[in-house]
Amino acid sequence: MKDLSKKIIIANWKSELDIRGSGALFGRLSKSFNKKNFKNDIVILPDFLSLAKISHNKNKNIFYGAQDVSPFSFGAYTGEVAVNNIYQVGASYVLIGHSERRAYFSEDKIIPQKIKNVLEQGKVIPILCVGETWEQRKKNQTINVIKKQLQEAFSLVKSLRGKKIIIAYEPVWAIGSGRVVSITEAVLVHRKIREIMSQIFKNNGPAELGVVYGGSVNLKNYQNFKNNSAISGLLIGGASLKASDFIKIASDF
Ligand code: PGA
Repeated sequence: MKDLSKKIIIANWKSELDIRGSGALFGRLSKSFNKKNFKNDIVILPDFLSLAKISHNKNKNIFYGAQDVSPFSFGAYTGEVAVNNIYQVGASYVLIGHSERRAYFSEDKIIPQKIKNVLEQGKVIPILCVGETWEQRKKNQTINVIKKQLQEAFSLVKSLRGKKIIIAYEPVWAIGSGRVVSITEAVLVHRKIREIMSQIFKNNGPAELGVVYGGSVNLKNYQNFKNNSAISGLLIGGASLKASDFIKIASDF
């Protein structure tokens, strides 16, 4: 399973900004990233409404994505946003199974159907989040937890042939807490994720598999994760809301 051809830096704006704030932040990023021969891919994940407002902007290095997606195609599913509409506004990625969605919106059970539907529609690239809680980590269950999350998420999918998939390793205890995993641990978990994906899919693995790290990445610590072949990129929450910090991290990574 080949790695991504470029490093990918993903900004998760969560539900932190209003539409005007999203537009203003995008404006600042857009100027900095609209350069020829920029080495990394940038993916911005605004909330749905802000996404629809900004995703028509063409930028050489910025791609757009949604923070969530309906498990179904168009139909009588009140409140849901179908993957085809995400695609139609110009997005090319969707985040699935973020720990905040797992914790506050009881996502776990619906993740396999989301993954299946997004892959069947084939329009956008899924970014699947996995990661252990502090309790699980203390009991040395990290790898088992992640294995189970991967097995479950892909339980309705037989083959990933020809697909591009991104897995985000986000330890739940590291998200928004200021604590990050050590680089040694991150590398170990990222390698394990690749191994587990190979075990699940054998000869039917994806054409490209990216494994990115997320959880309290900021200006002070991002360099720990740099220049490491096990780390395909970063998923950044808090620090992606400060234009200058995000521009520095995404340009230097
Ligand atoms: P954080 O968020 O960088 O603020 O920890 C990361 C995430 O939740 O994706």
